Amino acid sequence: MKVTLSVIKADVGGYVGHSHMHPKLEEVARESLEGAKEDRLILDFSVLHCGDDLELIMTHTKGEEDQEIHKLAWDTFMRCTEAAQNLKLYGAGQDMLADAFSGNVKGMGPGVAEMVIENRESEPILIFMADKTSPGAWNLPLFKMFADPFNTPGLVIDPKMHDGFVFEVMDVKEGLSIKLGCPEEMYDLLVLIGAPDRYMLKGVYTKDGKVAAKASVQRLNMMAGKYVGKDDPVLIVRTQSGFPAVGEALEPFSFPHLVEGWMRGSHNGPFTPVSFKQANPTRFDGPPRVICAGYQLCKGILVGPVDMFDDPSYDYTRQKAWEITEYMRRHGPFEPHRLPLEEMEYTTMPEVMKKLNKRFTRD
Ligand code: 13P
Ligand code: 13P
Ligand code: MG
Ligand code: MG
Repeated sequence: MKVTLSVIKADVGGYVGHSHMHPKLEEVARESLEGAKEDRLILDFSVLHCGDDLELIMTHTKGEEDQEIHKLAWDTFMRCTEAAQNLKLYGAGQDMLADAFSGNVKGMGPGVAEMVIENRESEPILIFMADKTSPGAWNLPLFKMFADPFNTPGLVIDPKMHDGFVFEVMDVKEGLSIKLGCPEEMYDLLVLIGAPDRYMLKGVYTKDGKVAAKASVQRLNMMAGKYVGKDDPVLIVRTQSGFPAVGEALEPFSFPHLVEGWMRGSHNGPFTPVSFKQANPTRFDGPPRVICAGYQLCKGILVGPVDMFDDPSYDYTRQKAWEITEYMRRHGPFEPHRLPLEEMEYTTMPEVMKKLNKRFTRD
């Protein structure tokens, strides 16, 4: 059976500020998707949140970029926006960039990760969802999962993984993509993805073309040429038998690496794996969070979710992240806590510079 998994997310209003999700919004989203399930448009769904981002996880048989499914997501977000406006939540409709639906939510504000899955005997899936960061945050963990034998022993000892994987990288400035195979092109790949503000991983495939992972960076295709950075992204990863084991896919998150985002989308901070109930970024509007929902796909039904980072073995990582948070915060408005100048050009900073420009004199 072929099943399409669509994860579509948007910030439709924060509670309080950008920190949390009001329960009413999830309730409205569930009602909307329940209706679509009754109408047999979708097979199953799950509604979650990470910080102020509302996550719609849906299964159906219509393939990627299906107009009806995207319209369902758009309409659901619009209903939630209305609920957010009624409660005067912060930034109601923040990610709803267009006035009306135009056939595909890509480029209209919401983030999208989708894959068509030819179900194996058992199909364990992990869905990672982040707040206060950009899709470039997935570069390091995806590389470790699918290319680093120190993280994933399966690359060495599992004959089904031994050939390695193909990584699809997007240049978000130019709107171009390139596919590179590992291990043979590992160093070329690292030249690119080591600069996650510009080169973002959007998918990983087996050497014979089976999809292994998809990230929500793909929507940035539609917006290339202008700033397309912070999106509070999502990532779908297939696991076990030919793909990384669940523990191999989770292992990279034991290192709270520095990612862009945090306060005003303008600061570097540690990417912190947390349980669902800890996904409420408050300190300096952060630090950036990631949650992981585990499901077994069964005939299109999402059996789950399991809150994968609700595990004390990640306490050490969180402790480290809180230490890094403290260390980075001490830099105040200085780099490398604040993002480099080039990135700040896409914030409100140019307005301030406009005022100062007239006062510069030549030495
Ligand atoms: P089981 O023996 O529990 O199936 O685990 C195999 C495995 O891959 C663990 O990483
Ligand atoms: P969000 O992108 O999660 O809405 O956060 C915006 C922000 O400015 C946080 O300080
Ligand atoms: Mg917000
Ligand atoms: Mg957010």
